[in-house]
Amino acid sequence: MDDFLRSIEQRTARVAVIGLGYVGLPLVLLFAEEGFPVLGFDVDPAKTEALNRGESYIRHIGAERVRRAFCELGARASGDFSLLASCDAIIVCVPTPLGAHREPDLKYIRITAETISNHLRPGQLVVLESTTYPGTTREEMLTRFTAKGLECGRDFFLAFSPEREDPGNPKFNTKNTPKIVGGIDEESLKVAAALYGTIVDRVVTVSSTEVAESAKLLENIFRAVNIALVNELKVVFERMGIDVWEVIEAAKTKPFGFMAFYPGPGLGGHCIPLDPFYLTWKAAEYGIWARFIELAGDVNTSMPRYVVDRTVEAINQKRMSIVGANVLVLGLSYKPDIDDDRESPSFELIEMLQERGATVAYCDPYIPTARQGRKHQLNLHSVPCTAEEFAKYDAVVVSTPHTAFKEPQLYSGTKILVDTRNILPKESRGTNLTVVRA
Ligand SMILES: NC(=O)c1ccc[n+]([C@@H]2O[C@H](COP(=O)([O-])OP(=O)(O)OC[C@H]3O[C@@H](n4cnc5c(N)ncnc54)[C@H](O)[C@@H]3O)[C@@H](O)[C@H]2O)c1
Repeated sequence: MDDFLRSIEQRTARVAVIGLGYVGLPLVLLFAEEGFPVLGFDVDPAKTEALNRGESYIRHIGAERVRRAFCELGARASGDFSLLASCDAIIVCVPTPLGAHREPDLKYIRITAETISNHLRPGQLVVLESTTYPGTTREEMLTRFTAKGLECGRDFFLAFSPEREDPGNPKFNTKNTPKIVGGIDEESLKVAAALYGTIVDRVVTVSSTEVAESAKLLENIFRAVNIALVNELKVVFERMGIDVWEVIEAAKTKPFGFMAFYPGPGLGGHCIPLDPFYLTWKAAEYGIWARFIELAGDVNTSMPRYVVDRTVEAINQKRMSIVGANVLVLGLSYKPDIDDDRESPSFELIEMLQERGATVAYCDPYIPTARQGRKHQLNLHSVPCTAEEFAKYDAVVVSTPHTAFKEPQLYSGTKILVDTRNILPKESRGTNLTVVRA
């Protein structure tokens, strides 16, 4: 262990990062910038090749940082996993999606654990970063590694450290966000905490991998439940003729005991819509039904339908039919001013409107062409973000509050604006515009 700690101190420990996506790539950059030899691994050759050319494929991760890390600081990317044997620390950032029945899909973690166990050698540290239910590090990684006859804490080290990436957040990044670390044993904790201590400002150690795994889930469940609460209140207040956005602004002036969450057209992103169900699934193994989480999921997943129903009502009230109506959906990414469209509720909005008979277009300056995903194939391109374009549609539905959509002039020729994000304040609405809160 002392040798390992020394190699961390001297920046000679060779760091491997498996899974070069939104979480893995920033880690590669940080370790390279800190002076460590870094090798990134991915099964997608397009990614490893782009990185080796010094090119970024994630918009908010600066192209210049990627170029510098791969062209000047010696970082490399590879799909040859036999090179893992030459690395000292192996950090795993592979996807953890849900399966067809909303059950945890651990196949990426399992494949990676198998691969690592085939190359594991004495003295290595393995850290899992992928979000998952408590027990995964022990059940899926430790068991595979010890089956090779190696002992944790003596021959190798194993820890869990959740990622807290918030893509596009101008204030908090990987470096200045405290990093939780839990080890299988004291030695693993010490080595993993020392490694992360070199790239982040603050490491928070906890007593086990299970606590670290659970902390990440608590953070995401907290958001999912609170968003569901405001989404429910939105529907209640709407019926009562009360503006939920004004209510939140008022409540938020309380300087203690309140934290503002905002309603929307449904949940998006890689984490909040998925991670909570990792815990409900695991809780069932213990005979416990996590009702709060399921209820939040129920409320949040019903939101796209609510928005579509409100759009149909608004079109009806103008004596038109949704069948044959031209509807424009604003925003395809799941949060403002980024190009990440994973699990975005906009896809559902578009598909549901199409099912009702509308002709649907979308506008998103960050996503010129709708990517073909596992679930969605829209075959659409973004229309221009101009008032002339917006005026062509019977209704405009705001899904993502990109800054570019906040210009009141854009809506000068719009007839119906279905606003799920409070994008257009009351005082800047034209007189011919019907605004529907949804
Ligand atoms: N994106 C976020 O904001 C965020 C935040 C916190 C936690 N997380 C968690 O981090 C994990 C990774 O998320 P992400 O957003 O980086 O995903 P991502 O889809 O952006 O990246 C995952 C990468 O892993 C690669 N990959 C898949 N299988 C592989 C394998 N067997 N070997 C090597 N590479 C493989 C993919 O090609 C892809 O490049 C997930 O568990 C996620 O829940 C994500």
